[in-house]
This record gives sequence, C-alpha cells and structure tokens, in this order.
Amino acid sequence: MLKPGPIGVFDSGYGGLTVLSHIQSLMPEYDYCYLGDNLRAPYGPRSFDIVYEFTKEAVNILFDMGCNLVILACNTASAKALRSIQQKDLPNIDPEKRVLGVIRPTAEVIGSFTKSRHVGILGTVGTIQSESYPIEITKFFPDITVTGEACPMWVPLVENREYENEGADYFVKKNLNNILAKDPAIDTIILACTHYPLLLNKIKAFLPEGISAIPQGEYIAHSLQDYLKRHPEMESVCTKGGITRYFTTESPEKFSEAATIFLNKEIEGERIILK
Ligand code: DGL
Repeated sequence: MLKPGPIGVFDSGYGGLTVLSHIQSLMPEYDYCYLGDNLRAPYGPRSFDIVYEFTKEAVNILFDMGCNLVILACNTASAKALRSIQQKDLPNIDPEKRVLGVIRPTAEVIGSFTKSRHVGILGTVGTIQSESYPIEITKFFPDITVTGEACPMWVPLVENREYENEGADYFVKKNLNNILAKDPAIDTIILACTHYPLLLNKIKAFLPEGISAIPQGEYIAHSLQDYLKRHPEMESVCTKGGITRYFTTESPEKFSEAATIFLNKEIEGERIILK
C-alpha cells in the first residue's frame, strides 16, 4: 500500500520549472516536490549510462521523500533513462510507484499543429541522438517527416542566465538556420528540451513567418491531468495541500534567485545531496 505523498518533478536543472509552472497552474491543489540537479547539469552531452545513473539517483531520492509518482520533466532523461527505470528498476524499488516522461505526451499532440506534415525537433545532443522523437511521432503519425537538430549551447545559455543577452542570438539563429536548411518544408518546431522556453522570445524573433515553435509544458500538464483521471489508485495517493518544495543539488541561494525569475514568483530552494 502506497503512503500519500507529493508528485515529484525532476530535471537536470532549471528547465523542468517551465513544465512545473504549467502543472501547478492546471492542478494547484496537489503538493509537488521539484528536484533540479544543477550541480551536474547539463545532461545533454553525457553518455547514456551516466544520464541513466544520475536520473535513477534523482528518482530514488524523490521516492525516499515520499513521492509515488515522478515526472521526468527533462527530455534527455526521458530519452535515455525512462525506459530502463520503468522496466528494470521500478519492479524492484516498488512496483506500485510510477515514473512518467515528456516525449510521448508531446509526440501525441504534434499531429494537430502541422499542416505541411514536416516537423522539426530541437533538443540536446542526447535527445536528438536517441531518435526518441522520430520513433514516438511515427507511432502516432506515420505520415509526418521528422528532422532533428541538436543545440548543445542552448542549455548552458539558460543555466547561466544568458538567454536574454545578445550572445544567445548567434546560437539561436545558427541552429534555426541549420534545421530549416535540412528540411525547408518544416512548419512546426518542437522545443524538445524543457530549458528552451526561456529562449522562446529569441526563437520567435528569428523564425520565418508561418513556422511555429511549440513549447511542451502545457501538453505535459494536460497529459498528467489525464493520467491522474485514468489512474484513481495513483490520484488518491497524491496529497493535496497546494504546497511545492524546491530542491537543488547546487547552492540553494543561487537556485532560489534564478528559479524566482523563471517562475515569476518568490520561491525558496533547499539543498539536497544525491548519491
Ligand atoms: N532540460 C533538459 C531536457 O529537457 C536537459 C538539459 C540538459 O541538462 O542538457 O532535455
């Protein structure tokens, strides 16, 4: 029997806050526990084994803190660790607990955005190399052509809070030009990294007219709401106090300051050590 607890939301750093804020607005009644592994971000360039190891440590600590359901609000972790955790680890840790990712819920909705049936994916090196998006999108929409572009500089720009500065322009333009050169018929671009919504103003400014950039937060939040409706056994063990605690593996002061900007509200971070 599961003991009621908060919903866990994990990302390598600040990016998952862009998902958490949508989840909180849609379902303010639940308690949440956010964990950002800022100390070891970015995950994007790391090997499969390391992302899996780090993500498993984070999931275990969120379970230890009482979460029964953990959302990997990180595409890189969803691409490289989710399946192994679900299939290999969960049966041993606790077969009743659940871990969900962000790739499938995004793939599920993308068919309604594209008219040209050509979709671009911007993500970390890990997410793009994993081919997770083309695989998932093809399951739902076999008529859609999917083209990926890794943007290795975008997460460091966000983690270092350079996303509104001129330096970011160069890298945003470069990767947008690259993906549109690979497939000029693209009319929809998925921001397949939870850090990228912070660059949305710049992305929109440099995208040619008629091409839209789609952040994931809203769709992840709706998908979670739908999951909880379909799984009353899990919904009933999610506590409802409207409280969120924010944990970081880096300095809590630094986290609180940055997270307050990302979330547009004052929050207080707490330090946690993963092992
Ligand atoms: N925000 C994460 C994602 O959605 C990962 C960023 C990183 O640590 O490289 O992919």
